[in-house]
Amino acid sequence: MRIIVTGGAGFIGANFLNQLVPTLPEHSFVNVDKLTYAANLESLRAIDSLPNYVLRQVDITDMAQVDAVFDELDPDLVVHFAAESHVDRSILGPREFIRTNIEGTFNLLEACRKRWSRDDDRLFHHVSTDEVYGSLGDTGLFTESTAYDPSSPYSASKAASDHVVRAYHRTYGLPVKITNCSNNYGPMQFPEKLIPLMILNALERKPLPIYGEGLNVRDWLYVADHCDAIWTVIQKGRVGRTYNIGGNNEKRNIEVVDTLCQVLAEETGCRVGELFALKRFVTDRPGHDLRYAIDASRVREECGWEPKETFDTGIRKTVRWYLSNQDWVRDVRSGDYRKWIDLNYGSRTA
Ligand code: NAD
Ligand code: TYD
Repeated sequence: MRIIVTGGAGFIGANFLNQLVPTLPEHSFVNVDKLTYAANLESLRAIDSLPNYVLRQVDITDMAQVDAVFDELDPDLVVHFAAESHVDRSILGPREFIRTNIEGTFNLLEACRKRWSRDDDRLFHHVSTDEVYGSLGDTGLFTESTAYDPSSPYSASKAASDHVVRAYHRTYGLPVKITNCSNNYGPMQFPEKLIPLMILNALERKPLPIYGEGLNVRDWLYVADHCDAIWTVIQKGRVGRTYNIGGNNEKRNIEVVDTLCQVLAEETGCRVGELFALKRFVTDRPGHDLRYAIDASRVREECGWEPKETFDTGIRKTVRWYLSNQDWVRDVRSGDYRKWIDLNYGSRTA
């Protein structure tokens, strides 16, 4: 199979490629990525000289670039990860989210529609988020039939893209599948997201900024389990169908930060109290969803997928990865990264 993976230089896309490219030499993988701030070519070093992998620098918001790469590659499968992915960035600058997540997805769908006929055995797999469903209260789970109710420009743009993907299936018969996954963590995640930000700040004894009272709940899934779920749905899921993916690991943010401090103290031999003392409760995120939790029974029952990592095993692997990959960390914490930290955290009061 010829497989286009969009956004393969980002966190989940790079984990996906690192898992699949070496183990599936019979398939060719083309990473279609604009290489934005969130991309890191270091994440692809282990596979970049393999014969079944190649990178094309393409901006999916540019239809001419998308057409050119589709003409060159004629893919059987498109796995669409490329997106602007950080909620806080979407609050401070929503335009790129609308462009990349909605228009970019639309361009890819158009490229498929123009080239694929209804009886072709091809697939467009859209990688999406549970944030499209909005916020839960203290109880309940998101199912695939929960109404969409997104809160942030990020989740609204992902919700819009999901709707367009489904419309292309219903209207044009385009073979699509969608997965909506909970919060991922693991190696190679850009340190703007909660877990890597806390790990790196704690290692440098910088403040650990916790929004509001730290009571918001997220369902955490180790990234390798998400990648495995996507590949499983591609192989076993039904065309036109949506699958929720989750880890059954609901944690309040404050619990996540405390666990990270404990694991970091054990792994580095420092006193945990020294790390706890770095915690700061800061101004909350506007429109901050209280709780996400996933009912993953459809993917379990129809496709036989189950996560392999627990939160404890996944967090320890993640902490160890950041401790032993300081080159990767140095690479992503460029001048632009520092500008983001000043912009997002500079005006938050304790
Ligand atoms: P990321 O921000 O780490 O990586 C995004 C990648 O997309 C980068 O390599 C970037 O260069 C690329 N990209 C951005 N704009 C582009 C454009 N215009 N053209 C081509 N490439 C472009 O994101 P991630 O965390 O790896 O998320 C990947 C996908 O998974 C996203 O669609 C996201 O919505 C979804 N998702 C993420 C999570 C999570 O917890 N991170 C959970 C569920 C779903
Ligand atoms: P994040 O990793 O940005 O993922 P998402 O917003 O997509 O869920 O944030 C996870 C949770 O952690 C979310 O409730 C916001 C919170 N958070 C903080 O408390 N402090 C921070 O510095 C960041 C980045 C997030």
